[in-house]
Amino acid sequence: MSIIAPSILSADFTKLGQELNDVEKAGADWIHIDVMDGHFVPNISYGPIIVEACKKATSLTLDVHLMIEKPDLMIPEFANAGADLISVHAEACSHLHRTIQLIKSLESLRYKNINDNEEKKQVKTNIKAGVALNPATPLSAIEWVLNDVDFVLIMSVNPGFGGQKFIDSSIEKIKALSKMIKERNSKAIIQVDGGIGFETIGKVADAGATSFVAGSAIFKTADYKETIMRLRE
Ligand code: DX5
Ligand code: ZN
Repeated sequence: MSIIAPSILSADFTKLGQELNDVEKAGADWIHIDVMDGHFVPNISYGPIIVEACKKATSLTLDVHLMIEKPDLMIPEFANAGADLISVHAEACSHLHRTIQLIKSLESLRYKNINDNEEKKQVKTNIKAGVALNPATPLSAIEWVLNDVDFVLIMSVNPGFGGQKFIDSSIEKIKALSKMIKERNSKAIIQVDGGIGFETIGKVADAGATSFVAGSAIFKTADYKETIMRLRE
């Protein structure tokens, strides 16, 4: 199963609610929310209040990508705001194992389909934990937490901005990670983020990724539905 996660970093913030509505109707699976602190990455974006606003505007899974230093201090805030998934950067955590356990110990309100008519109800579930790696960080940084995380986020650009060029070496990295996940009997799925579009999605899917973040490739097009459909192909 492939998961398409539009990154709101490229959305029109003068009408965020409408944008969320539009990608939900267009068939998106998760909403990817990029949190930047101006220290870990050279850009500042938004924090828990935007996650809270997204929670009100969509019933889709909220996938919060923390590009921040000292994430432990803020993780409970993001859980309270409605994050369903939280990923932290291995480079930003001195005690990565502890941080992952912290994420998984927290609960979030989540919408679940209760019948075939797409009727939904709110249920409490544990937050799922992800670990992200910058392009230059080796896979060995996460080897010993592979059985603790729900997903691994391979950055295919240097984090901080939307609309950057895909870094080709990410493909080999995803292949090597797929192998490592199998060898270790981990259930983690692979998410890829940065420069994903029609040109690159097929290659990263063949390499083993199943969750695809796309910012500009979706929000900078006119027809979200057609774009998401084409990305899935
Ligand atoms: C980059 C962010 C990405 C970004 C992707 O730091 O983590 O999620 O929004 O944007 P595109 O898809 O335009 O490369
Ligand atoms: Zn991201």
